[in-house]
Amino acid sequence: MTTPGGSFLANKYLIRFGVFVFLTTLCSLEKGFALSLTETSEDTTNSVHDHTHHTVQLKSLLPEKTCSPSTRGHDNKKASLEVVHRHGPCSKHNQHKTDIPIHTQILQQDQARVNSVHALLNGDKLRQSDTSIPAKSSTALGSGDYIVTLGLGSPPKRLSLVFDTGSDLTWTQCQPCAKSCYQQNEQIFDPSLSKSYTNISCNSPVCSLLKSATGNTPRCATRTGTCIYGIQYGDKSFSVGYFSKDSLTLTSTDLFDGFLFGCGQDNEGLFRGFAGLLGLGRNKISLIEQTAQKYGRFFSYCLPSTPSSTGYLSFGRGSGGPSNAVKFTPLSTVSQGGSFYGLNVVGIIVSGRQLSIPTSVFSSSGMIIDSGTVITRLQATAYNALRDAFQNGMKRYPRAKAFSILDTCYNLSGSNTIYLPTIAFTFGGGMKLDLDASGILYVVSTSQVCLAFVGTSDDNDFAIFGNVQQKRLQVVYDVAGGKIGFAPAGCP
Ligand SMILES: *[C@@H]1O[C@H](CO)[C@@H](O)[C@H](O)[C@H]1NC(C)=O
Ligand SMILES: *[C@@H]1O[C@H](CO)[C@@H](O)[C@H](O)[C@H]1NC(C)=O
Repeated sequence: MTTPGGSFLANKYLIRFGVFVFLTTLCSLEKGFALSLTETSEDTTNSVHDHTHHTVQLKSLLPEKTCSPSTRGHDNKKASLEVVHRHGPCSKHNQHKTDIPIHTQILQQDQARVNSVHALLNGDKLRQSDTSIPAKSSTALGSGDYIVTLGLGSPPKRLSLVFDTGSDLTWTQCQPCAKSCYQQNEQIFDPSLSKSYTNISCNSPVCSLLKSATGNTPRCATRTGTCIYGIQYGDKSFSVGYFSKDSLTLTSTDLFDGFLFGCGQDNEGLFRGFAGLLGLGRNKISLIEQTAQKYGRFFSYCLPSTPSSTGYLSFGRGSGGPSNAVKFTPLSTVSQGGSFYGLNVVGIIVSGRQLSIPTSVFSSSGMIIDSGTVITRLQATAYNALRDAFQNGMKRYPRAKAFSILDTCYNLSGSNTIYLPTIAFTFGGGMKLDLDASGILYVVSTSQVCLAFVGTSDDNDFAIFGNVQQKRLQVVYDVAGGKIGFAPAGCP
């Protein structure tokens, strides 16, 4: 039989990936993953009358040890999947605590993803020689943080996949794992047990769609003529295998025949524990495009404030369409990065005051929204203004050491109630988005709580709206309508 990994991507990638060691590190859950912040009820009143600060309890900064699932946002007229954080108590695949990376690793991986986004968007030929990612490697970015479970094959096998709005190809590890599969918690998908599985042949027009979706020209298995995909990510994870189709079961009522996906025979990297990746980008082979007839390129999600609660990922408009609470801004298209969803930022407001940042700072490159980037990146000039205003609003708290890429940290262990400056973004079309309190900080420990934003090295780099800042927001992608919307408090 043909082993795809041997020929595909050749030595160029495999040798490099071979020396890549996935570091597993002990980390106690108590240390707190990202953060959990819940606002007190009095704060809701404060925020209504005075947009200058959030009032939060320090103890709510730390995640609970047990999962409190939520059904908020689950409209039974829509196809909804539960979203959980990959490392939290709500993830059923979290038995292997040694697989939980420490915060420094999370932030390093995040920087690797951002570097690859920037290399891609800049079409940066110079970096081509010194990185293992081809400069034109479409959209493949990193391992992501949020998980959904769906069914593949007939009868359907339950698979938990990392979802990613920054990439397109959906893939899962597949038997017989001709070259290598990493450890995953569910059984590895076995095509021979599915009545509806078929390989895509190299002659099929869909095989050639892989080039733009993965950045790599597909290969062809010599004897059988099976189309072979290969995709590698900014954090050095990769998957290589047979391009295939099979039935996709999103919910008990929503089934898609002939869903195109990668049946991975050689998979390595940071996806550990999970069966693969669900691509929600804008390219032809993303889930959004493959289900366009039924859902009209409309989807929404809510990322929970803490790993101990759950959010959702929904497809289609549902009965009444989005609620009035959802405010929309035009979706912009990013040349170079066709898979990305772009936003037009025009301003930032801290503690109710508009920062004086020339609009050219935002417009010279632009911003993308990405479910797989953790910390929001802002153009250096914008970040410096935000940081100064935030520091100004946090003067009452003792500073703590910088942590990894985060330069503005506080020791909050002496306080029970925290007053946090509010942060809002204004987008094209005059839309104002107030971040949730959980979307402002990254908690390393109560004595090191950091502003969860980072400045890019120069003003020409793209800004990225990351997943910390998306917490608790209902994020609505109306791709067909050319707009993206946000509403507050979409999930716990
Ligand atoms: C798919 O293609 C591979 C490689 O050519 C082959 O080993 C496998 O048996 C094929 N599977 C099916 C169901 O045709
Ligand atoms: C943080 O503050 C607490 C109390 O205010 C103090 O006891 C502790 O030593 C400080 N921790 C660090 C790392 O500075």
